[in-house]
Amino acid sequence: MTDELTTARPRVRVALVGIGAWGRNLARNYAQLPDAELCWICDTDPGRLAEAARHFPDAVCTTDYGQVLADPQLDAVVIAASAQAHFTLGRRALLAGKDVFIEKPLVLEVADGEELVRLAAERARVLMVGHLLEYHPVVLRLRDMIRAGELGRVLYVYSQRVNLGTVRQDENALWSLAPHDISSILFMLDQVPTDVSARGQCYVQRGIEDVVFMNMNFADRAMAHIHVSWLDPHKVRRITVVGSKRMAVFDDAEGTEKLRIYDKGATVGEECNTFAETVGLRFGDIRIPHIKSAEPLRLECQHFVDCVRSRAQPVSDGQDGLRVVRILAAAQRSLKSNGDPVTVDLVPAPRVAA
Ligand SMILES: NC(=O)c1ccc[n+]([C@@H]2O[C@H](COP(=O)([O-])OP(=O)(O)OC[C@H]3O[C@@H](n4cnc5c(N)ncnc54)[C@H](O)[C@@H]3O)[C@@H](O)[C@H]2O)c1
Repeated sequence: MTDELTTARPRVRVALVGIGAWGRNLARNYAQLPDAELCWICDTDPGRLAEAARHFPDAVCTTDYGQVLADPQLDAVVIAASAQAHFTLGRRALLAGKDVFIEKPLVLEVADGEELVRLAAERARVLMVGHLLEYHPVVLRLRDMIRAGELGRVLYVYSQRVNLGTVRQDENALWSLAPHDISSILFMLDQVPTDVSARGQCYVQRGIEDVVFMNMNFADRAMAHIHVSWLDPHKVRRITVVGSKRMAVFDDAEGTEKLRIYDKGATVGEECNTFAETVGLRFGDIRIPHIKSAEPLRLECQHFVDCVRSRAQPVSDGQDGLRVVRILAAAQRSLKSNGDPVTVDLVPAPRVAA
């Protein structure tokens, strides 16, 4: 009955802007979602459009963004163009009265993010950012475990997002890769950092950092360390959470066993005679919880379509995108001052139900 009702409603009409390496994945998902219709594909590169037309024959392909926005039947614009173009494309779409999804990073300047958030609020438009890991079933499970206290107090988190490529020209490795780590760590910890620091180096291109080591400190003494690089021999996509009771490792490069929970920890006794008695190390079992697999991108696209229909605020809304941009901008300032800590003054996300 529910399915019949759902499919009886008009489908959300979507335009994709930017059909490059990642845009193709978005196009595939929107073309497959039963309650969405991929109507337009827009790209400034005619070669890419010609290829898109072969794969998505039902969509109209154009280099003219104005033509897309002039379509009165169009509900939403999905932007997966290069990061430099996000602000202008997103702003035009909001001004044209469309709901908007923008890939990460939302924008490259804090002021631009503020403007998009303001425009979306003024015009009651949905604004969502592609913080993909906030839709990843393993990240959702980890957040639930942290909220339920299963790991104890989170002491520190570290992540690695490294491999060889994709080398970008209009953003550095920090802005390209770290939005995933920052957004998922804030999401799992339900906290915002108090200060940020980062060090990195430009080896391949002048003035564009290829490798960055970034830190975030939280008010409760938790720390997060993020290592991002597109100049590395290994492909690693891993986040480790060390809690006072248990430890967890999310390895997204694993096929099915992506989450491991280690029943390991250290306890400090009181009134003991020797050091060995004072610090007790616990080496317990390792558990691999079963997590129903689902493509995070599919879940993310479905969530955008649902929000367009219901007018609900997305989990990764414009404020979430802006929060991450503020942290990236603070980390960028720290990079330029060789790692000096930069204070950030952020409003935490409202706590949504698990
Ligand atoms: N969520 C994720 O996991 C993920 C992964 C990869 C990339 N991304 C993001 O997706 C976006 C695109 O990345 P990509 O790897 O596909 O880059 P890409 O360079 O392969 O593709 C970008 C496409 O946008 C087009 N384009 C650029 N400016 C445009 C404009 N003004 N109007 C229309 N088209 C324009 C280019 O011609 C190109 O075809 C970036 O923001 C990137 O950060 C997200």
